[in-house]
Amino acid sequence: MDKVIYSHWHIERDEDNIAWLTFDKQDSKTNTIDLVVLEELLSVIQSLETGTKPLGLVIDSSKKNGFCAGADIQQFKNTESLETIVNLIQQGQTVFNHLANVSFPTVALIEGYCLGGGLELALACRYRIAIEDPKTKLGLPEVRLGIQPGWGGSVRLPRLIGGLKAMDLILSGRTIEAKAARKMGVVDVSVPKRQGLVAARYFVKTQPKVRAANLIEDFTNRHFVRPLLGKYLLKAISAKVNRAHYPAPYAVLQHWIDQGVFHNAAFIAEANSVCQLAQSETARNLIRVFELQEKLKRLGSESSFRPEHVHVVGAGVMGGDIAAWCALKGIRVTLQDQNTLAVAAALGRAKALFKKQLKEPHLVQAAMDRLMPDIKGCGIKTADLIIEAIIEKAEAKKALFMTLASEAKKEAIFATNTSTIPLKALSEDPAIQQRIIGLHFFNPVARMPLVEVIDTASTDPHLIQYGMSFVRAIEKIPLQVKSSPGFLVNRILMPYLLESVRLLELGIPAVAIDKAVVEFGMPMGPIELADTVGLDVCLYGAESLAHYLKVSIPTELRKRVEAGNLGKKTGQGFYQFKNGKIIRPKLPEHYRLPEDALDRLILSMMNEAVACLREGIVADADALDAGMILGTGFAPFRGGLMHYIAEQGESLLFQRLNLLAQRYGDRFLPDAGWR
Ligand code: COA
Repeated sequence: MDKVIYSHWHIERDEDNIAWLTFDKQDSKTNTIDLVVLEELLSVIQSLETGTKPLGLVIDSSKKNGFCAGADIQQFKNTESLETIVNLIQQGQTVFNHLANVSFPTVALIEGYCLGGGLELALACRYRIAIEDPKTKLGLPEVRLGIQPGWGGSVRLPRLIGGLKAMDLILSGRTIEAKAARKMGVVDVSVPKRQGLVAARYFVKTQPKVRAANLIEDFTNRHFVRPLLGKYLLKAISAKVNRAHYPAPYAVLQHWIDQGVFHNAAFIAEANSVCQLAQSETARNLIRVFELQEKLKRLGSESSFRPEHVHVVGAGVMGGDIAAWCALKGIRVTLQDQNTLAVAAALGRAKALFKKQLKEPHLVQAAMDRLMPDIKGCGIKTADLIIEAIIEKAEAKKALFMTLASEAKKEAIFATNTSTIPLKALSEDPAIQQRIIGLHFFNPVARMPLVEVIDTASTDPHLIQYGMSFVRAIEKIPLQVKSSPGFLVNRILMPYLLESVRLLELGIPAVAIDKAVVEFGMPMGPIELADTVGLDVCLYGAESLAHYLKVSIPTELRKRVEAGNLGKKTGQGFYQFKNGKIIRPKLPEHYRLPEDALDRLILSMMNEAVACLREGIVADADALDAGMILGTGFAPFRGGLMHYIAEQGESLLFQRLNLLAQRYGDRFLPDAGWR
């Protein structure tokens, strides 16, 4: 056996003359690809070609977390220098083309995530094997960063599995697991981990027929079919993504329609397209969002606390769904509620979630076994973390914490999922107060990535760290927030929601309000959001915050609640709903929103955000931006609320707020935090 060590790659030949090339990025827990990695890979391939040829080459990874997470995103940050990006893209294409053309068989052995450039590397190999493990995820997520695959992915993937399936993966940026990848034809086989090496040897030694697109898949790539399919795909993306905000999926689609996948010119066009996209404002902002999110994740990783047993009190929608999510992520959970119907409903929802996420019946059963109904609260005694999600009444919560303090383990952490009650009001006993943190999940728990971790002056700082680690252990993203009414996300949202109802009261159609806000970049308009959350929930939130935020509650909101028109759940709110689907009335053709209506909405949010920063509710503007993007979907392509303020110019927005204050009253007076 000969053995040569590179900085980021280890190569070894075994007794069968198979070369095993292991990707092991130096000083990093994750394999990402930069220029040096590419240069070394090229040199490895060249030395294999010019020296004694191996029987075959198997590429795998030494990292626990995956095969490769793609191009190093840091490289895209310096987009002022177009040359750097052009260089990176060209070098990647050269190396991967070289790999695709070597004379010996090549196999990518994929375990853990294989994303972006990682999948492009695998696509340049002759064969691909994926290890069956929930952590194995394959995908080309570049559009989520505002760019597109640039190292041949948007050419090789459609070549391999046909344009339609490839476009589905590339345009959505979604990831797929090993078995799904095999079914789609992205990998040749998926095998359990213990068979990975055997499978790799098999492919090298027997060299089975290389997978190619079948007749139908190939047909989808033909020049006369692409424009037709393109129209259908264009319609599908236009329904979801605004071209002006997110140009990347449109660029990928156009590139496929125009260039196809059969000629080398497609690679050159791909490279040009990615270089152009990388310089866009959207890409810069989406890369910023990725970094903000990673920063929050890192803050949650400072302790290794992971509860073995979580006890949840309250099997309502929030409590039940939090319990299910924890069980899904491998934690033993007891769910306490005297209302057996509520527990049964929670278990039913949990089963549906497990089936959707885990698919395999034995995994679903194991998750169900981890989630135990606990009518009497026997789990309190042994739990490491106890989360309260009972009725929003301070007295009821106080009594519960008294019981918990007398029954739970001394070191158990107490958490509340309250969204409105200040933590200080949950106990009069300082010893109990010290043990309580807030873990504010958002509804629906399975879809919302953010959890606000609430801190008071009296909370033991270690507990906050433990709370953050727990949030990471269940694969959510923690945001440390100081305890104050509405915490961060709901507080910033509330003035904006109330203002939208005030616009309605002026006779402005709900569709016009929502349309303007969606065009600004929010995932949903405020009126539809209020109907979806429930108008009773909004009113309750508004009442708890009204005094603190010095806002009045629009009568139209109160009226609907009194009439029992609570939104989606009752079929009637500001909108009508049929079978849970919104019925959107048509907007009169030439309808024009008053020119300051959008300002009234967006600036309400911004003014509150500035107040939160001034009061130190979160650590800094970056944390606020990440919180609003992850908690509300605030226009990611704008890079965050505070980032947007900075880009627009604080003084300009300050003037616009003053103007609104003159027209509509003190609620628009700029907060003292505006500089
Ligand atoms: N470039 C640079 N750094 C990257 C990276 C990339 N493409 N992908 C992941 N990382 C870093 C993360 O920032 C994190 O760094 P840290 O340890 O300093 O905090 C680390 O690698 C990943 O840690 P891990 O704990 O394994 O992360 P995770 O399980 O929470 O998420 C990913 C892992 C890969 C799913 C997530 O990081 C991700 O989506 N990465 C981007 C993938 C991508 O878009 N690739 C295409 C790039 S063009």
